[in-house]
Amino acid sequence: MEENNRKKIAVLFGGCSSEYEVSLQSAYAVITHMDTRKYEPVLIGIAKDGRWYLYQGEPDSIPADTWCREDKCIPAAVSPDKNLHGILLLKEQGIEEISLDAALPILHGKNGEDGTVQGALELAGIPLIGCNTMSSAICMDKETAHRLAKERGVKAPKSHTVSKGELNEMQLRIWGRELGYPLFVKPLRAGSSFGITRVEKAEDLQKAVEHALEYDSYVILEEMIEGFEVGCAVLGTEELVTGAVDEIELSEGFFDFTEKYTLKSSKIHVPARISPGKAEEIKETAKVIYRGLGCSCFARVDMFLTSEGEIYFNEVNTIPGFTSHSRYPSMMKAAEISFEDLLSRLLELQE
Ligand SMILES: Nc1ncnc2c1ncn2[C@@H]1O[C@H](COP(=O)(O)OP(=O)(O)O)[C@@H](O)[C@H]1O
Ligand SMILES: [Mg+2]
Repeated sequence: MEENNRKKIAVLFGGCSSEYEVSLQSAYAVITHMDTRKYEPVLIGIAKDGRWYLYQGEPDSIPADTWCREDKCIPAAVSPDKNLHGILLLKEQGIEEISLDAALPILHGKNGEDGTVQGALELAGIPLIGCNTMSSAICMDKETAHRLAKERGVKAPKSHTVSKGELNEMQLRIWGRELGYPLFVKPLRAGSSFGITRVEKAEDLQKAVEHALEYDSYVILEEMIEGFEVGCAVLGTEELVTGAVDEIELSEGFFDFTEKYTLKSSKIHVPARISPGKAEEIKETAKVIYRGLGCSCFARVDMFLTSEGEIYFNEVNTIPGFTSHSRYPSMMKAAEISFEDLLSRLLELQE
């Protein structure tokens, strides 16, 4: 393909989110593995304070988190004008427009994976590679996601959701007794295990809820599902492709932030050490959840598998970790889809 026929793909990275650093690593892998003969990456960095920039420096400065300090950053904004379907560069000498063919947000957590950025891109008429506004928002909200999955016949942990304003010690105690201990307390809409506590006894419940409230104004209390967590990478919008199912082997506690990014005492097995029949069942369940929650392009569906062989829905990550050794690409690799191939397939979903 001719150099000037390349499609302009905005890759959004960073984000006004506690998962900013994770996004820098994911985005770097995406940028450096994209087929630049077919696609021209337009790098849009969102600083932690929420400022948007067109970044024209070396990709290496992204994972090092020095990109924002360079003079290679031009303040930018999404234009709400659908006729441009692009961004505005706010240069000293005036405004410059750049039209885009599509945008691939590689942002995790709040203000990036939750439908907010997706909404801005949709409003701007920029084709989105990833889940749309509504699906992103639904998947971010653990209670709504569970409810919709249950409607499709998928099991999900018993739970109760409470807002900051409704917090009541008596009610908490009743819910704790009903769900049993240990139980999980989580911010309703967060990621990377931020704000999550595995509560062992009633006395610790209130503190755990207060901790979760530091991350969101709503908190969900969930019964603990005994067993282990499995994940399934799903790719596509109409026709769906799944990767191999993976398994998280924990030796203690739960899959918290440190474990997720250091794997100090836990291990990820790809493929999971389960029967082919069970893996198939998990893949089918993942697809039911993916469609039920309105996902498109890609997402990682996380579930629990109990010792009785029951599958419980945990959550959908609409923009899962995307470094070449992250779970989603590893599951695809185990299904013979290389990282480069995965990116090409993903970018083609918008053509
Ligand atoms: N209901 C549950 N039963 C058992 N373990 C859970 C439950 N909910 C969460 N966990 C543990 O906590 C981790 C983080 O919870 P998760 O809901 O996936 O939050 P995040 O969106 O931050 O990844 C999971 O990977 C799992 O180890
Ligand atoms: Mg999770």
